[in-house]
Amino acid sequence: MNKTTGAARNHPSSPEQRAAVRAVLDARSQQAGALLPILHDIQDQLGYIPADVVVDIAEALNVSRAEVHGVITYYHHFRSEPARGAVVQVCRAEACQSCGSEALWEHASKKAAGQNVTLEPVYCLGLCATAPAVQIQDKFHARVTPTKFDRLLAQLKEAA
Ligand code: FES
Repeated sequence: MNKTTGAARNHPSSPEQRAAVRAVLDARSQQAGALLPILHDIQDQLGYIPADVVVDIAEALNVSRAEVHGVITYYHHFRSEPARGAVVQVCRAEACQSCGSEALWEHASKKAAGQNVTLEPVYCLGLCATAPAVQIQDKFHARVTPTKFDRLLAQLKEAA
């Protein structure tokens, strides 16, 4: 999982990224409860939330940098560094846990190590009835066993 760390400072925003952030802030900063929509928009557009735009967000919303940083680090969804390769999300919420997602997470962590993927936990993909669930890039996968996970990872590698 990628969270704000010292390494995040190695990924400063480009002028194009700052312009995209500025457009998001211009469009949303006057809305009530704008912080989460702004963070979602930035991550959707840039793939992550560069650490050096936290100050821009804080100033636009008239909140502290610590508040913005706190929200980014609280939600697993938000990334402070660019993803490495494909994003693989394993659901670790209750329904998936009851169907073996913790063992799947352990398996996935070992299998993803050293591969060109970013493995992230996620807390409900809306596929509770067909748990455990995994999302790879934009595609959902249901009833994922360790064997099925290996197959999906192999397909991902072949497609790269
Ligand atoms: S709990 Fe995993 S998809 Fe809902």
